[in-house]
Amino acid sequence: MKTQVAIIGGGPAGLLLAELLHRHGISSVVLERQTREHVLSRIRAGILEQTTVDVLREAGLATRMDAEGHEHDGMRIAWAGRDDFFIDCAKYQGKRFMAYGQVQIQEDLFAAADARGATVLTEALDVTPHEMTGERPFVTFHHNGDDVRLDCDYIAGCDGFHGVSRKSIPATVLREFEKAYPFGWLGILSRTPPLTDVTYVNHPRGFALASQRTAMLSRYYIQVPLEDRIEDWSDDRFWGELTRRFPPEMARRIVTGPSIEKSIAPLRSFVVEPMRHGRLFLCGDAAHIVPPTGAKGINLAVSDVYYLSRALAAFYRDGSASLLDGYSAMALRRVWSSERTSWYLTNLLHRFPTSSEFDQRAQESELDYLKGSVHAQAALAEQYAGMPFESA
Ligand code: APR
Ligand code: PHB
Repeated sequence: MKTQVAIIGGGPAGLLLAELLHRHGISSVVLERQTREHVLSRIRAGILEQTTVDVLREAGLATRMDAEGHEHDGMRIAWAGRDDFFIDCAKYQGKRFMAYGQVQIQEDLFAAADARGATVLTEALDVTPHEMTGERPFVTFHHNGDDVRLDCDYIAGCDGFHGVSRKSIPATVLREFEKAYPFGWLGILSRTPPLTDVTYVNHPRGFALASQRTAMLSRYYIQVPLEDRIEDWSDDRFWGELTRRFPPEMARRIVTGPSIEKSIAPLRSFVVEPMRHGRLFLCGDAAHIVPPTGAKGINLAVSDVYYLSRALAAFYRDGSASLLDGYSAMALRRVWSSERTSWYLTNLLHRFPTSSEFDQRAQESELDYLKGSVHAQAALAEQYAGMPFESA
């Protein structure tokens, strides 16, 4: 087989890259290890920054998102069971957000790929990139019992944190930056009307978050110890703990109901530099992980593939490799900005096992300061909204 860009991984990063390249007249083949059903079963965050919404709209991928998603202006922070304020990104930044699940984005991307007859090979096994630093890279894999070789000009590693792309780069050329947090998030999805605002809560018992998908679908999270198991958390125990952490008048407005999904995820910050090795480019979770506080994960995947598609388009249009050469540095500037914001919010809002009463008071004082200062609110609004894309 032969194509211009071999894309490893069919998550949001890989499938969106294929769509953006197609719109520039660039061919690609997507190689995904799992079945489509498996890819569509992964429930993840669902808050899209304005830049992400703009990319999806410009690519003609937003019809369903615009019909079903819930647009909103920012997020609320509450603490100590008594106080709260709203970070208004529309007011300070002129930017809005869309609540729209990653599962739905993934469905829309598969639908767009099907509609144009794109080559997306699922259950592609033992995918291996070769000759990345040469002129003629290729990828080998097994598919439907056949050994296949895919020749290409470039390889995009969009295969998530556990993928093969980053691991195939020699350790001597990569630098990894990592921070693991000593707690996880227990999340549930329920068919209940959500609170009006996405609301982050700092409480001495631990962090809590109210989020939303649609008018009748809510997503809630609580901070739990890493050792906790799903079996430890009945729905009743979850709702009891969640509502204890919200200020009482907000807790009274939380509508409880049976969970339709429940999972525990650890929190981690991770960045690899550079995001390129020869003709292999890393995008999305393959290159970086953010803790979910800040909802940056999918938005970073989208900014990476936006930058990479623009760089490849320039190369195929006029032979200029300067944007490709600048890809890693440009992508990493936005990555580090979001890494910093999600690390800051994680530290501000969680209870660490080593936290003392002093630490709790210091967090509450910072929240008091944020509530009282329009300058602090504007600064946080700027970071939560996400940095604009750099021009080419
Ligand atoms: N070969 C082929 N495909 C692979 C391989 C492999 N060796 N390893 C992993 N994959 C596939 C996975 O099955 C998955 O479908 O790559 C895809 C990677 O998708 P994601 O993990 O969703 O990563 P990405 O597309 O970068 O999207 C980032 O996911 O984790 C969230 O917060 C994050 O929302 C953000 C988004
Ligand atoms: C979600 O809706 O799943 C969500 C919202 C905000 C976050 C993380 C996840 O910070």
